[in-house]
Amino acid sequence: MKPTVFVARRIPDAGLKIIEPVCEMQVWENSLPPPYENLTARVKGVDGILSLLTDRIDGALMDAAGAQLKIISQYAVGYDNIDVAAARERGIAIGHTPGVLTEATADLAFALLMAAARRIQEGVEYIRAGHWKTWEPTTLLGADITGATLGIVGLGRIGKAVARRAGGFDMRILAHSPSATAETAAEAGVTLVDLDRLLRESDFVSLHVPLNARTRHLINRDTLRKMKPTAILINTTRGPVVDQQALYDALSSGVIGAAALDVTDPEPMSPDDPLLRLPNALIVPHVGSATIKTRDRMAVMAAENLVAGVTGKPLPHPVPSK
Ligand code: DGY
Repeated sequence: MKPTVFVARRIPDAGLKIIEPVCEMQVWENSLPPPYENLTARVKGVDGILSLLTDRIDGALMDAAGAQLKIISQYAVGYDNIDVAAARERGIAIGHTPGVLTEATADLAFALLMAAARRIQEGVEYIRAGHWKTWEPTTLLGADITGATLGIVGLGRIGKAVARRAGGFDMRILAHSPSATAETAAEAGVTLVDLDRLLRESDFVSLHVPLNARTRHLINRDTLRKMKPTAILINTTRGPVVDQQALYDALSSGVIGAAALDVTDPEPMSPDDPLLRLPNALIVPHVGSATIKTRDRMAVMAAENLVAGVTGKPLPHPVPSK
């Protein structure tokens, strides 16, 4: 008998093709995530779950699935939606998709940095509103990127990939990353500093830490006040790393210059959210890894993890044991 798996959303075919020959597969076909109650009902009796970052996978859900559940395979690098401790207690393996989305996410972080620095969104709106009457010496003046100081918070794969891009713009690069060694920093071409110094000296601050109890609201009223009044904050990691009310207040009162966000708290952001009305906030809907090739590669990795887990093999891409 084939192992049974529940796939919590239709992922690219590149992944489904790997799962289908090995498993009895059920896919949640709706474009919106399964509500928690439906997910709980659908995972009952399965050997494996392929989850997305929108699915809350907690101990109760694992228990509802049953003792035969062997693997939770996350279609993302981040897995803050999964109760890792609960899975470990129950002997359930957890896989994720590191590495393959590094470059796409770093590209988006840099695209946001550049768009916010050069006020691209405001420029588009300026034309649409009929304000473009002539070339003018002081219209839509932005911030220089070349030669500016970039502060990278979290020097993991994506943080380093952002540093590589910043090197091409002759930026001075500071990084804060408690686990980084002097050797890693030298290889990445960054200077390791404490968070306060990074916030004080950076023209751009880009966040690349995972969401956990230590990083929730790392950027808050106090830390925002340490930044330059012209500073631009870029967030492509998880929304709750930033206290969004504090960010709104900082942006609307000139505490910092601008913010460019790929992630918000909550997601999805309501179209009525006041942040969307601020000219100095640029917000896109969590699309850091959204390229065709990247999403295909993520599907393959998640499928490989799922198949390995249900067939009792070691996962090719397990979440780190910490
Ligand atoms: C991730 O992988 O964690 C991203 O947020 C979505 O690709």
